[in-house]
Amino acid sequence: MEFSQMNREQLSALQASLRDQYESFKQANLNLDLTRGKPAAEQLDLSNALDGILEGFYLLQDGTDVRNYGGILGIPEARQLAAAFLEVDASEVLVGGNSSLTLMFNYIDHMLPTWRKDLSEGGTERLKFICPVPGYDRHFTICEHFGIEMLNVPLLDGGPDMDQVEALLRADPLIKGIWCVPKYSNPTGHTYSDAVVDRFAKLADIAGAHFTILWDNAYTVHHLEDTHEQLKNLMTTARQQHTQDSVVILGSTSKVTFAGAGVAFLATSPTNLKTFEKFLSASVIGYDKVNQLRHVRFLQDSQHIAAHMVKHRNIIKPKFDLTQQILTQHLAGKGIATWTQPRGGYFVSLDTLPGLATEVIRQAAAIGVKLTPAGATFPYGVDPSNSNIRIAPTFPALGSLQRALEVFVVCLQLVTVNHFLSDQR
Ligand SMILES: Cc1ncc(COP(=O)(O)O)c(C=O)c1O
Repeated sequence: MEFSQMNREQLSALQASLRDQYESFKQANLNLDLTRGKPAAEQLDLSNALDGILEGFYLLQDGTDVRNYGGILGIPEARQLAAAFLEVDASEVLVGGNSSLTLMFNYIDHMLPTWRKDLSEGGTERLKFICPVPGYDRHFTICEHFGIEMLNVPLLDGGPDMDQVEALLRADPLIKGIWCVPKYSNPTGHTYSDAVVDRFAKLADIAGAHFTILWDNAYTVHHLEDTHEQLKNLMTTARQQHTQDSVVILGSTSKVTFAGAGVAFLATSPTNLKTFEKFLSASVIGYDKVNQLRHVRFLQDSQHIAAHMVKHRNIIKPKFDLTQQILTQHLAGKGIATWTQPRGGYFVSLDTLPGLATEVIRQAAAIGVKLTPAGATFPYGVDPSNSNIRIAPTFPALGSLQRALEVFVVCLQLVTVNHFLSDQR
């Protein structure tokens, strides 16, 4: 029954039963964590063969010794692998260290003087970025670090609300970029539609020179189902529109091999790549080419990556299925929450009724279940409707995940019942 249809007695009876359940969880002294969007140890084990895979052979076909300095764009074999991964041309790719986040940070850092020059002479205005929400908190942290103001735009099922994105760009020349997780988005799991990708390829025509689309394709090969969602190729589309300079595509093997010791990629136009390479060369002579070669040997090509990702899926799919099962069993048909059913990626995004997320998270924490802080999926940590909660099912073992979700659904119902009862007072 929908909570909104219940009378006061029904709500009070439900409140009493939920309080009992809450108290019994309290006795159990739980210590569970649903915050960590990271692979479980079993998933990391899938790539242990990386260790020692080179068996003492460090030379590339062209004679380069990967143990030595140099090659800031990455070894050719890794650039080829990354090109297949990101569906771009190898000449557009830089293969970096272990973190795509670092490449994003560096890329913005390198664009700042150019963006500032674009602004009016001597102006002190703040640069701005569009942030589809809910989104990835670490993107927002980068903007905060550089003092870039963030403007929220809702992320709909097929991508950001492009009418809003285009209207903002038409109205405000201070906007120099937009963050995107276009496939199996963090946290909703949505994939941008072809029509949205087409509109992205034309944004530079509205925004003008140096507008930058940070297309963080972190979950491109992270499918949970047999039928994979297809993301239209932004680089190919942008090349047709002659807007490829606005496109920066990112990815990494963090959730393919080792989250802390993978290989990160960045793809952009050869023009941009040249200036970015020059910028980076002030701080690094070359990235870890030994690790790049290990990854080339281990992952080999798209077919092998796909086969490897099936092994990941076999480990994490039961966790996503369990999450859907518990949310559906306890919350469906009650009019108290909506949540996504991702077909890939690492997260489930849940919305409570407006205003309740912080309290749900507080109540869960009070009995030992840690959830991502409310607001984390929004710029400045502020969710204007205080309703979004990101659930990360991959890391805990199935038993812990089940327990944590059972606590979560009780907390959510209890907070919602309390809310209805206080409304009826
Ligand atoms: C959307 C997105 N981008 C980037 C990252 C981090 O990637 P990396 O490990 O390559 O820095 C994550 C990790 O959760 C992510 O969700």
